[in-house]
Amino acid sequence: MERRALVVFDSRWGNTARIAEALARGLRQVPGVTATCRSIAQVGSDELELASLVAIGGPTEFFAESSSLKRFFDRIGGFDYGGKFGFAFDTHVNSPLSGGAAGWIERRMRALGFQPIAPHRSAYTVPRPASEAGGWARAGQIDLSPGMEREFEALGTELGRAFLETRLHPTRAKSTADATRDESRSLPAPS
Ligand SMILES: Cc1cc2nc3c(=O)[nH]c(=O)nc-3n(C[C@H](O)[C@H](O)[C@H](O)COP(=O)(O)O)c2cc1C
Repeated sequence: MERRALVVFDSRWGNTARIAEALARGLRQVPGVTATCRSIAQVGSDELELASLVAIGGPTEFFAESSSLKRFFDRIGGFDYGGKFGFAFDTHVNSPLSGGAAGWIERRMRALGFQPIAPHRSAYTVPRPASEAGGWARAGQIDLSPGMEREFEALGTELGRAFLETRLHPTRAKSTADATRDESRSLPAPS
């Protein structure tokens, strides 16, 4: 049976969208895996519920996650994603001072029940040369570093293989009701 992956992204200027598409392309290269790529504005709750692997990515803005991504997590928070694999990614400048969104995304995904299939990853950006950008590079004039799409396509294939080969499916966090049921099952039958 095909295993379903979903790549969800936030993107103001297109860089994170390109990385998300590359990740989905890589996932699709693994026979037995289907992958859909959706922006946070397009994705439906049915798609999130049906996917067994969900990758979520966003841009870094002011050293952290974007406000639209925060709102997205608030919107999807009502569902238990236990039993699903997750993966977080972001785009940011390749500098120790850049900040990032992927760590935050991974923490939010864990809190919702997702089990990371791999540690979060970043795709790097470089400001366009000042000569092309018409002065100091402004927002929207920051490109992906060369090779980033290729790197994330390869990463998608790696994640797809791991997804397919992982025999152990992530376990749902036990609710109190489940734990009580399990306990009562293990009690000796009344004599
Ligand atoms: C308002 C704004 C703030 C940004 N702040 C940061 C930042 O703090 N650190 C960083 O590395 N990049 C920062 N960037 C650059 C973006 O993270 C980068 O260009 C990213 O790839 C944009 O993704 P997008 O094209 O998907 O919107 C900022 C960009 C914008 C528009």
